[in-house]
Amino acid sequence: MPPTPDLLALVPVMPVVVIDDLAHAVPVARALVAGGLPAIELTLRTPVALDAIRAIADEVPEIAVGAGTIVTPAQARAAHDAGATFLVSPGATPSLLAAMAETGLPFLPGTATVSEVLAVLEAGFTSMKFFPAEASGGAAFLKSVASPVPAARFCPTGGITAATAPTYLALPNVGCVGGSWLTPADALAAGDWARVERLAADAAALALT
Ligand code: 3PG
Repeated sequence: MPPTPDLLALVPVMPVVVIDDLAHAVPVARALVAGGLPAIELTLRTPVALDAIRAIADEVPEIAVGAGTIVTPAQARAAHDAGATFLVSPGATPSLLAAMAETGLPFLPGTATVSEVLAVLEAGFTSMKFFPAEASGGAAFLKSVASPVPAARFCPTGGITAATAPTYLALPNVGCVGGSWLTPADALAAGDWARVERLAADAAALALT
């Protein structure tokens, strides 16, 4: 069995993507790869989301396609069956954690408080999402938990922008940030894949700063 990939080390910015039109899935994935971001968190928020994961898994093998917004155990199983290679949830309950773990896929469970962070660590997982990041205390929260809870590592997501991402990425307990700003709805509606590629390239460059 190959080693479990470190989800926090795949890309500096995890593109959090909502796909309304299935035809957009593959071109978006290709634009992200062309911009230097070979990972995508495709949110299960639209009727076509699972088919979009399937299409990307089939046609863009160079990208790690994950399923985001996993809020039920059934969604964890469905995402696995659609070909997702990792899972992300906005929060974590014991049954959701168990269902994500049972898929055998790497995953980031969502946390927003110190007690939730401790519960996820107790369950045996050290990498997690911090969501909704800006509304839950932002970079100041993560800076505050780094010393008392050094084992926890985060992908903060929610309200983060290209301008605020570097502050998060500078923290010792942050591996990557997540954000939807790379795939604006108007760019997708217009089929402006070049704009997605440019936004991805700018985000990929944050790894170097
Ligand atoms: C998520 O599911 O992670 C968030 O909806 C992404 O948050 P953003 O749209 O504020 O980047």
